Amino acid sequence: MTQAVTVRAPAKINLYLGVGPVREDGFHPLATVYQAIGLYDDVTVTPAEQWEIHTVADAGIDLAAVPDDEDNIAIRAGKALVAHHHRPELAAHVEIHKGIPVAGGMGGGSADAAATLVAVDRLFDLNTSDDDLLAIAAELGSDVPFALIGGTAIGTGRGEIVEPVVDTTQCWWVVVPHEIGLSTPLVYKHFDMMVAEELLEAFQPAIPQSLLGDLATGDVLTLTPDLENDLAAAAYDLRPDLVELRERLERLWPDAVLLSGSGPTQLALFADRDAARIAAGTLSQEGLTHWLAPGPVAGCTVIDYS
Ligand code: C5P
Repeated sequence: MTQAVTVRAPAKINLYLGVGPVREDGFHPLATVYQAIGLYDDVTVTPAEQWEIHTVADAGIDLAAVPDDEDNIAIRAGKALVAHHHRPELAAHVEIHKGIPVAGGMGGGSADAAATLVAVDRLFDLNTSDDDLLAIAAELGSDVPFALIGGTAIGTGRGEIVEPVVDTTQCWWVVVPHEIGLSTPLVYKHFDMMVAEELLEAFQPAIPQSLLGDLATGDVLTLTPDLENDLAAAAYDLRPDLVELRERLERLWPDAVLLSGSGPTQLALFADRDAARIAAGTLSQEGLTHWLAPGPVAGCTVIDYS
C-alpha cells in the first residue's frame, strides 16, 4: 500500500484578466488567460485516522492567514474527493510546503486544493477520471481547475472553464510579493463600486486575439501591450501603498509590470533569464523581496511516491 504521495502545484498569474458585471450568484464572468509559473506549493499526503493539516513555508511567506483546520481548502478538497467515491472512511494527513505567497493573487490556496485532489487520488488508488477531477476542482474554487492543468489556458465562466492554448513563449517573471495580503472578494466588491453599473452591464469581457497570436509565435517582447488586469484599478485604489511600489517598478521596466490576479503581488516580464537576473539584482540592491519564475510550467505533478 502507498504510504505517502507528494504533488507539486504551480502558482498562476493572469496575463489578461477581463471582468464583467457581477452575476446573480455573486461571481463575475471572466475572460482570462492564465499562465502557470515556477513558484510551487508541495503537498504530501499520508493515510490517517482523520483529516489533519500542517503547513510550513519558504522564507518571506506569512502563514498567519492559512487555516490549520478543516476550513483549509486542501482538507475540503480531500473530503470532496473521498465523498465523490462514497469512501467517507478514508482520511489523510496533509502536509503543505508553501512557496506561493498567501493571499497574494497567485492562486496559492487553489494550488493546494488541486495538489491534494491528485495526491489523495493516487494515495488511495481512486482512479478518478480527469473530467471528474476537473468538476470537483471547479466546485472548490474558480482557479482550482487551472492549477490541475497548468501551462497556459483561457479561463471563462467564473474562471473555472479552462481550455489550453498554444504558448511557445519562454517567459521569465520577476515576482515582487507584498507582506500585507489582499482579500479577493474585497477587491471584486471594490471593482463593483468603482465601475459604473451601466457601463459594465453592456460589457462582455473578451480575450485579445493579438495576445493569443503572440503566445503562439513565442514572441515575449510583443506580449507586453496586451498584458491587462481589470482588477488592478480596484486593488490599487484599496491599497495606495502598492501604487508607490508599482511606480518604482515601472520606472525600472516601463510597460512590463503587471498586477497578479487580485494582488498584491506584482510581476515584471522579461524575455530571457539573464535579463530577469539583472533585474533581480537591482531589486536586491533596493532591498525588495523578490523571486524569479519561468512560465509556462506544468500543472499538478506527482514528484514522490513511497
Ligand atoms: O472561486 P473562489 O472561491 O476562489 O472565489 C473567491 C471569491 O472571489 C468569491 O467568493 C467572489 O467573491 C470572488 N470572485 C468573483 N468572481 C470570480 C471569481 C471570484 O467575484 N469570477
